[in-house]
Amino acid sequence: MKYKKIGDILIVDNNYSNDDFERLSRKHKVKTIMRIDHIQGTKREPVYKILYGSETETINKENGCLFKLDLSKVMWSKGNNNERLRIAKLVEDGETVIDMFAGIGYFSIPIGVHSNAKQVYAIEINPNSHHYLRENIKLNKLNNVTPILGDCMIETPKLKADRIVMGYVKTTHHYLKVAIDSLNAGGIIHYHETVPEKLMNSRPVERISAQAGNRDVEVLKINKIKKYAPGVEHVVVDARIN
Ligand SMILES: C[S@@+](CC[C@H](N)C(=O)[O-])C[C@H]1O[C@@H](n2cnc3c(N)ncnc32)[C@H](O)[C@@H]1O
Repeated sequence: MKYKKIGDILIVDNNYSNDDFERLSRKHKVKTIMRIDHIQGTKREPVYKILYGSETETINKENGCLFKLDLSKVMWSKGNNNERLRIAKLVEDGETVIDMFAGIGYFSIPIGVHSNAKQVYAIEINPNSHHYLRENIKLNKLNNVTPILGDCMIETPKLKADRIVMGYVKTTHHYLKVAIDSLNAGGIIHYHETVPEKLMNSRPVERISAQAGNRDVEVLKINKIKKYAPGVEHVVVDARIN
């Protein structure tokens, strides 16, 4: 039996029964209990069931940031919490950052809160996520995060950045060329991929090099975020492109 608390909502697995919910809601002080069966499609939308209560909007506090979200409309990955803070702490004063798959601000909000970035462009295709991204910029009182509603394949080439976060795991490699072309010389990409364990140290780097053309690729780190499926890891490669 597994559960996780997101704001004042409890997400449980399917090993609980109806008799458990009243007790769980009191024990964990939550207004709603939900089950999230899976996250579907490009826009990463949850397929869910409400088991107790009715309200699905909440505010989750993490790493000193506030994230307002509706768990029936957008996803929240608890396993990515360390990575969200790690990236924010890498951002140096005065950097321009592009967050290509911004969601509700998973990376853009911590970067805004914990760094002195000059500007963070947060591109998101899902209008529901974009709505909460705007809310979260206000909630965290940030004035250097610019939300952009649209497809990062189209919006990224309009920008230039010192650092680009590619926090998406479906077909992220298709976006590498666009990201690298918008990266200033010596800039850094954080490229996410779900990859079979044995290819962890090869495939993501090969994909980056293939799209970098004549530019030099310096791998700074290959960071394991979490197990994605049996034998499959979610990794992020930090790479400087000269
Ligand atoms: C949900 S986030 C991934 C989770 C996040 N890395 C975390 O730390 O929890 C991925 C986001 O990318 C968005 N997305 C997918 N394709 C996109 C595209 N072409 N342009 C912009 N956003 C896109 C999805 O709508 C989704 O909100």
